[in-house]
Amino acid sequence: MNDEAFIRRTFELARRGLGTTWPNPLVGAVIVKDGRIIAEGSHMRPGGPHAELAAIEAAQESVVGSTLYANLEPCSHTNKLTPPCAQRLVKEGIRKVVISNLDPNPQVNGQGIALLQAHGIEVVHGILAPEGEKLNEVFFLAQREQRPFLHLKVAASLDGKMSLPSGESQWITGPEARAHVHELRAQHQAILIGGQTLRRDNPRLTVRIPGYTAAQPWRVVVTRSGGLPEAASLFQDEHRARTLVYTVAPLNFPFPETQVTRVRNLRDVLADLFRRKIIYVMLECGPALASEVLREKLLDRMTLFQSPTVIGQGQGIFNDFTVEELSLRPRLTDIETRWIGGDQLISGRVLCSPV
Ligand SMILES: NC(=O)c1ccc[n+]([C@@H]2O[C@H](COP(=O)([O-])OP(=O)(O)OC[C@H]3O[C@@H](n4cnc5c(N)ncnc54)[C@H](OP(=O)(O)O)[C@@H]3O)[C@@H](O)[C@H]2O)c1
Repeated sequence: MNDEAFIRRTFELARRGLGTTWPNPLVGAVIVKDGRIIAEGSHMRPGGPHAELAAIEAAQESVVGSTLYANLEPCSHTNKLTPPCAQRLVKEGIRKVVISNLDPNPQVNGQGIALLQAHGIEVVHGILAPEGEKLNEVFFLAQREQRPFLHLKVAASLDGKMSLPSGESQWITGPEARAHVHELRAQHQAILIGGQTLRRDNPRLTVRIPGYTAAQPWRVVVTRSGGLPEAASLFQDEHRARTLVYTVAPLNFPFPETQVTRVRNLRDVLADLFRRKIIYVMLECGPALASEVLREKLLDRMTLFQSPTVIGQGQGIFNDFTVEELSLRPRLTDIETRWIGGDQLISGRVLCSPV
């Protein structure tokens, strides 16, 4: 195996933490001696061992003189729950470190590498860097823009309609696509909707997968009017402590103060979510809110479940969005497509820059 193959293995190990590591990055590590992997590790949850330490601790033989591969630069800062990995690698006698990406966290960003090199450890970085960036797209965007990564999930017809003119939208896609949404929810920290979707659909926004025991995602409602139905599931069910409301006008019923925040706009909502260390948010909203997020250039990824059916008159996914020139139309890049039951999944990063 060569450097690329070992780094690919770190990507696989990193993915094991998908859904549980937030707000930390996805990180995997392998320790290689005489060309063979002697230990592996994954970062699974905040406060838990970093992948490099998990690998060192899993090693059944001495790691002195070995090479450590990790998809992300080892950390060097001390103001967190776990001790810095770079110092530990020095102490353990690791000879060489090979990584994919630098850590954009300003407290690390090259300093982990510098510390290793200062202690005579050979460092190679940039191996499969674009793939590493994609793996950690959420963490990297949150670090760089200091806001959560927004992922819009929609179910629509062939002609891009999310609901009938009456607002009826349940269900446009089949049972397999709807089951897949629960897998997606489990990967996110929060699910966000607007007041109109709450009033219309009364969704639960929970992960309902047999055997699922991890924490439920936060359920977030944004409203300008503050007029929400107190009887809605989000305010009454057993997970109501996981419901947050962001409202421009005062909320029309009493709800715990720590879960209700007055805001002026969407940027305020995102700033508060980020302050709460929520960095990965799935939007399950309707066209008005989806259009607003796109207009504000805040949409980072979109996943469309497209049903091969026609609705005709109805609400388009981005009904409230206008482009002045074709060259300015937002588009998806880095696209993944596959069939989920009878519906097609199309997912990609949203680009708003001119073509
Ligand atoms: N097919 C699908 O995948 C899908 C998914 C979700 C929803 N839907 C359908 O979509 C329809 C609802 O669409 P919609 O776009 O009106 O839905 P929405 O998700 O409720 O978003 C609009 C609402 O969000 C709130 N809002 C918007 N901008 C805001 C801001 N800057 N600050 C604070 N609050 C803000 C407002 O709530 P207030 O009115 O409370 O002020 C507004 O009415 C329903 O028919 C629903 O069934 C379809």
